Amino acid sequence: MRFVILGAGGLGSVIGGYLAKAGEDVTLICRPAHAEAINSKGLKISGVRGEHLVRENLSAVTSPDEAAGEFDHLIVLVKGKDTETALAQAEGLKARCKNVFSLQNGIGKEERLRQWAGRDKVVGASTIEGGTLHEPGVVSNPLTTPTTAWFGELDGGTSARTDALAEAFTRSGLVAKSVPNIMQVLWEKLVQIGTASGWSVSTLGLRLYFQDGLLIRQGAEHYVALAKDMLRVYGAMGYTPQNFYAPMSQFKELNELDFEGGVALMMKLGERLKQQGMRGRTSMHEDVIRGKKTEVDFLLKPFLDKAAELGLQVPVLETVYRVIKTQDAYLE
Ligand SMILES: NC(=O)c1ccc[n+]([C@@H]2O[C@H](COP(=O)([O-])OP(=O)(O)OC[C@H]3O[C@@H](n4cnc5c(N)ncnc54)[C@H](OP(=O)(O)O)[C@@H]3O)[C@@H](O)[C@H]2O)c1
Repeated sequence: MRFVILGAGGLGSVIGGYLAKAGEDVTLICRPAHAEAINSKGLKISGVRGEHLVRENLSAVTSPDEAAGEFDHLIVLVKGKDTETALAQAEGLKARCKNVFSLQNGIGKEERLRQWAGRDKVVGASTIEGGTLHEPGVVSNPLTTPTTAWFGELDGGTSARTDALAEAFTRSGLVAKSVPNIMQVLWEKLVQIGTASGWSVSTLGLRLYFQDGLLIRQGAEHYVALAKDMLRVYGAMGYTPQNFYAPMSQFKELNELDFEGGVALMMKLGERLKQQGMRGRTSMHEDVIRGKKTEVDFLLKPFLDKAAELGLQVPVLETVYRVIKTQDAYLE
């Protein structure tokens, strides 16, 4: 299959790199220094799958018009705040792409892609795979889970194209499933990333890593309080947690445990991550550390809107949103 990735930074390079390594034809659309490094020296990936240098089947360009030929799949992977600009630049590319999907975090991205590319072209997709761009041509892949990506038709059900995508990702080492309930996966992923990101940015400051905060009792308490607000909204939407991204997801358990039980569970997770030597940060926490505007309106705002629609009180989520919006106003 031919893939083109619009906005290949951390995650787009990791996904594109593994797909190319497994024999898919991949074009990355990225910033000039990154494109130049990849085309001259290859893409270096290190992390949970060891060290790789990818050169075969991979090319990088700096604008959508330079991506030559026809593609089976366009994957949107700019940050949410850059989507509109990137789509405007890709007008000339969309007619050359059979299918379009986004692996960004957030809700509403698929509807936006349907307006842009046409309803039938868009597939639902979600991933937890981790990717960070360190320097041009060099990325790390600090996180994966036993199932790391999910695909499905947005109106429900699976299809030949969602099955083929799951197979291609799985062949490349990114174990994926094609499922009939992709909207639930997308909302539950937002519970996960919204909780993890909202918590990390409102708790960890500029030095700490994810597990550092969970090892402190008050840190774990804040995590559980925020998760309970998110789960209240998710439950009121009619969903029951499935732990799509187990073992990182602990939402089935958090939903059933009382507050103290939840705190003990999260402190245990912090201990386990420490023993594994993990030094992870959420992508939104990385943004704050690098002085970049965050995706707070894509990751937390959908739950605030849903809570308002459903008449639910979510005081911890509201506080976290206010704290992050204040910081965000001063980021570039
Ligand atoms: N990283 C993860 O671990 C992870 C995991 C799951 C989901 N996600 C989601 O995936 C999305 C991407 O995250 P990321 O961490 O990969 O972000 P990222 O590292 O910032 O990658 C996005 C890249 O796109 C570039 N870009 C922006 N506008 C562009 C344009 N018009 N044309 C070409 N390139 C453009 C950015 O360059 P500049 O920085 O110069 O603007 C950046 O290099 C986010 O929605 C995130 O929430 C991330």
